[in-house]
Amino acid sequence: MAPTKQQVLDSLAKIAGPDGAPLTASGKLSDVMVTDGKVFFSITVDAAAAQAWEPVRDRAEAAARAVPGVQSALVALTAERKGSGSPPGAGGPRPTTPAQPAARGGAPSPIGVPGVEAIIAVASGKGGVGKSTTSVNLALGLRDLGLKVGILDADIYGPSLPKLLAIKERPQTLGGTRLKPITRYGLTVMSIGFLIDEETPMIWRGPMVISALTQMLREVEWGALDVMVVDMPPGTGDAQLTMAQQVPLKGAVIVSTPQDLALIDARRGIAMFRKVNVPVLGIIENMSYFLCPQCGTRSDIFSHGGARHEAERLGVPFLGEVPLHMDIREKSDSGLPVVATMPDGALATVYRDIAAKVRDQIKGVTRTAPNIVIEA
Ligand SMILES: Nc1ncnc2c1ncn2[C@@H]1O[C@H](COP(=O)(O)OP(=O)(O)OP(=O)(O)O)[C@@H](O)[C@H]1O
Ligand SMILES: [Mg+2]
Repeated sequence: MAPTKQQVLDSLAKIAGPDGAPLTASGKLSDVMVTDGKVFFSITVDAAAAQAWEPVRDRAEAAARAVPGVQSALVALTAERKGSGSPPGAGGPRPTTPAQPAARGGAPSPIGVPGVEAIIAVASGKGGVGKSTTSVNLALGLRDLGLKVGILDADIYGPSLPKLLAIKERPQTLGGTRLKPITRYGLTVMSIGFLIDEETPMIWRGPMVISALTQMLREVEWGALDVMVVDMPPGTGDAQLTMAQQVPLKGAVIVSTPQDLALIDARRGIAMFRKVNVPVLGIIENMSYFLCPQCGTRSDIFSHGGARHEAERLGVPFLGEVPLHMDIREKSDSGLPVVATMPDGALATVYRDIAAKVRDQIKGVTRTAPNIVIEA
């Protein structure tokens, strides 16, 4: 029989907080979501008390998992900073900052992911410009440069990696607490799409955004990686800003198409990352020009070059142009990304050249401040 929310709550009632009171009476528990044998909830505490609550989180997770029929339980411990204004929200319950130690100078900073050298976001202001396609091929390009690369799908509402990499299997748990990512084409891959069904109602996803993202970073056995590429959801709204703050980013790559409208959105994306002190590693112009699949002739059917000019104007590096090409679309949509399946082709070269520039940019940047907006 499918486990119910009440069964999970009954099990959690037996867990005590650091003060000895039952967790369910602490007022710190979020709504408990139970879907298809999977349990999600968060515990929100004061940042100063986060360490004392960590064992409670572990026990709560074990208690949820012990309910008959529960296959997995994800419990996030989130910490609220006292005196901060209303943090940007994703629409549902107020997302909070994950529990983390205070950085030098008193400002909390997202802690890194052990073993992961650099985390970079691939973002755009506008949807459908090719972020996910670019993320996958960029990750493969970095792999071809000899780097150990992971890719994290941060698009909780519309995960793409299961399709772009044709992944149907579910990650296995390691020791019941950590998830083993999937490996494809030499990349270490994680997506919320591996964990939840496409039918999971959108309304449930909002509250899950931050906890799911935090858990995909912290409770997945990423292993040693030189670079983790994060495929961001579209837009520059509060949800994206919150995500940009939660992930300890080394830098961001902005994808834009050449059209003016997309460029306006790209500009917003750059402004967003600058606001949270995340260096912009550069802009990629996607669908830059048309490359005829039959004859290989190039035609500049759009006013190509817009992103290059925009990059110059904004003082950020221009990383390269990816043509609009049927192979990119067909191969991506059938889970056979061009860099992996047509490694000797011109398109793979385009992505590898971009990857080399990204690698050089990563080496060059030093973060000056944590990517947390300090609210007055
Ligand atoms: N350079 C390209 N040439 C041809 N087709 C492309 C190219 N880049 C992306 N596409 C196609 O455009 C569509 C959108 O791409 P993709 O899903 O990568 O965009 P996205 O920015 O991640 O979208 P979303 O905002 O929904 O996350 C896909 O069908 C993809 O195959
Ligand atoms: Mg996408």
